[in-house]
Amino acid sequence: MKILNIVGARPNFMKIAPIMEAMKASAKITPVLLHTGQHYDSNMNDVFFDQLGIPRPDIELGVGSGGQAWQIAETLRKFDPVLEKESPDVVLVVGDVNATVACSLAASYKKIPVIHVEAGLRSFDRSMPEEINRMVTDRLSEVLFITETSARANLLNEGVPEDKIQFVGNVMVDTLLKHRENAAQTSRILDRLQLPSKQYAVMTLHRPSNVDDKEVFSGILKALNQIAGGLKIVFAVHPRTRGRIEEFGLEESVKSLILLEPQPYLDMVHLMSQATMVLTDSGGIQEETSVLGVPCLTVRENTERPVTIEQGTNTLVGTSPEIIVREAEQIIQTGGKQGRCPELWDGRAAERIVRFLEQWQPR
Ligand code: UD1
Repeated sequence: MKILNIVGARPNFMKIAPIMEAMKASAKITPVLLHTGQHYDSNMNDVFFDQLGIPRPDIELGVGSGGQAWQIAETLRKFDPVLEKESPDVVLVVGDVNATVACSLAASYKKIPVIHVEAGLRSFDRSMPEEINRMVTDRLSEVLFITETSARANLLNEGVPEDKIQFVGNVMVDTLLKHRENAAQTSRILDRLQLPSKQYAVMTLHRPSNVDDKEVFSGILKALNQIAGGLKIVFAVHPRTRGRIEEFGLEESVKSLILLEPQPYLDMVHLMSQATMVLTDSGGIQEETSVLGVPCLTVRENTERPVTIEQGTNTLVGTSPEIIVREAEQIIQTGGKQGRCPELWDGRAAERIVRFLEQWQPR
C-alpha cells in the first residue's frame, strides 16, 4: 500500500516522525512524505527534521505564507497534480492545520481515501480556523485515529460510523517519550539562560484570537508582567506573535520577559520539563505538559483536548489578566495540579496505527 503522508506546519512534524518510522519498518507499506511548505523558516522547520530524524520530504510544494483561504487554495492547486502523478492508495493527514484540510479535500475529489490522525477533537469554537479544519477533515476521512475518548463521542454525535473510529493513543507523545531523556542529556538551554530548575515559567502564544487583537494581547502581557515580578518567564516567540508585538508597538510590555526565538524541539522539551509551570495557547503543549507532569495554564476559553484537564495537569484560564495571575500564583504557592498520563499515551501509538493499516482494505 502506497501511503502519501502530509506535513505542513511545525506541530505536524512531531506527529509524522513516529508514523514514518513505523511505516518504513513495515513490509506492507510504502510511505511517501510530502511537505506543503506552510512553515519554512529554519527554526520552524529544518531543525525539527534534523532533531526528530524525519526523512527529507520526497515532495515539497513550497506554498509559504498567506491568509487562510489563500494558503488552502494554493495547497489544493499545487497538490492536485501530485496526486495525479503519484497515484497513492491512501493520503494520511495529521492534526488540524491548513495543510491537513487542503490535502484531504484534494484527495477526496480524486476518490483517494483519507486517513486522519488526531481526529475528533472539538473546541466547539468555530472562530478558530483549526476547528473548521478538524470538522471538514473528519467528514472526509475513511479512518479516524483518535487520541482520547472525548473524540469518539464527538464523532459519533456528528454521525461518523463507529467502525471508522480507532482509538490508538497519541503520536505526539510517542515522540516526546522517545526524545525526553536525550533532551535532558544534550540540551544546554538552562545553562545558557542561567535558569535554575523549577524556578521559571515558560510561555508560548500564537493563536490569532490572542495575538491579533491588541486589547486581548496587551491584557495577557499585563498578566505576564505581574507574574514576572516573582518568577522569571521565558517566552518563545512565534513569528506571528513577533509580528504583532512590532505592529502594535508592545515592545515595552515584553521587556520584563526573557524573549527567545522559536526553539528547537529538544531545547523546548527540556525547558518545559524543568519549568515551574507553562502558560500557552498551543494544543500540543497542553498534551506534552500533561505527560511531563508540569502544570499548564491554557490561555484560552476552551480546549479541544479535555482529557488534559480531566486527567492531566492542564487548567483553562481564559484571557482575563486577573484570572491568569491568580492561577499562576496558586501554582507558585501549592505546586499546582499533579495529574496522570491519559490512557494509551504510552509511546506506541504509531505502532498501533501501522498494525491497523497493514490489515486494512480501502473500500
Ligand atoms: C499554524 C497553524 C496552527 C498551529 C501553528 C503552529 C493553521 C490554520 N494554523 O499557525 O494550527 O498551531 O501553525 O506554529 O494551519 N511564518 C514565518 N515563518 C514560518 C512560518 C510562518 O515567519 O516558518 C509567519 C507567516 O508569514 C505568518 C505567520 O507566521 O505571517 C503565521 O503563519 P501561518 O502559517 O499563517 O499560521 P500559524 O499562526 O503559524
